[in-house]
Amino acid sequence: MEIFDWKNLPFGYIKTDFNIRSHYKNGKWGELEVSSSEHIDVHIAATGLHYGQEAFEGLKAYMGKDGKIKVFRWDENARRLIASAEGVKMAPVPFEMFKEALFRVIKLNKKFVPPHGSGANLYVRPLLYGSGAEIGVKPSAEYTFIIFVSPVGPYFRGGIKPVNMLICRDSDRAAPLGTGTFKVGGNYAASLRALITAKEAGYASTIFLDAREKKYIDECGPANFFGIKNNTYITPESESILKSITNMSLIDIAGTLGMKTERRKVLVEELSEFEEVGACGTAAVISPIGKIVDPEKNKIYEYCKDGNPGPLTMKLYNKLTGIQLGDEPDEFGWMTVVE
Ligand SMILES: Cc1ncc(COP(=O)(O)O)c(C=O)c1O
Repeated sequence: MEIFDWKNLPFGYIKTDFNIRSHYKNGKWGELEVSSSEHIDVHIAATGLHYGQEAFEGLKAYMGKDGKIKVFRWDENARRLIASAEGVKMAPVPFEMFKEALFRVIKLNKKFVPPHGSGANLYVRPLLYGSGAEIGVKPSAEYTFIIFVSPVGPYFRGGIKPVNMLICRDSDRAAPLGTGTFKVGGNYAASLRALITAKEAGYASTIFLDAREKKYIDECGPANFFGIKNNTYITPESESILKSITNMSLIDIAGTLGMKTERRKVLVEELSEFEEVGACGTAAVISPIGKIVDPEKNKIYEYCKDGNPGPLTMKLYNKLTGIQLGDEPDEFGWMTVVE
């Protein structure tokens, strides 16, 4: 029996039956606890609330064509959460504990994994925060780790289509030697002014430039940037962006499609040379970009003039989503079956 109208599921939060938690106290992590509450009891002086000691992850589980639930590259998320924890001086979640929590919480909620072919999938959100009380600025002695899940509909309803982006020159998401490479909540708070300005002006998102010189492309809001020219997939090297797992995967796929790949600084002016550009991340996989507007420089860069994503963008998108959904062979060994 279907519990949801899977085809019309929004890309948003939906309550499931269970989440899983562990608490760090006296220098060690406690047993994983299964909870059916959507709420947490947070100390009023928790460092996660005051000093931004918080990190999170985002990944997806898919119902394969073969009826097996599979998770995409979860080990990379486990490692990135460890790096983020260390980046803001939190107790890292041990790799094995992350793995056990992840697979248990998915199994406990398996009725919420949308069926193959519905376009929907199960979004998984691990989070970690300082839960101990402090008044002075220092790392907490206590931490809480939670994983919850939510079935989500496709990011693009009615198929992948180009979006427009606004270049932001009057605020920065992260500083070069700051926390931009970590997936910590503060970076997202810092990005909101620019993101809302862009949305209110009718753009899908904002493009941040490097904070030091404002010469190079950093990221597209909560997604990495790539450009394609002369059969080469080019993505920014930067000290202040999150290393996207989707982007790493697209680089590998581009190689198998006979494309060259480059991770290097990308000058804003190079936007005029690209044949195709896009944003990539777990949520949408790829958002092809139709137009980039740089109001302060009075420049407009246009792509996808026929209204459709470019051919190489579509090849990359189809291959990666094909692997995730089990419609293509998992030639890189990226999918793990939830057993
Ligand atoms: C700032 C930022 N950049 C890039 C990404 C894309 O990363 P991933 O492909 O691992 O989802 C995300 C989303 O997680 C993000 O929040």
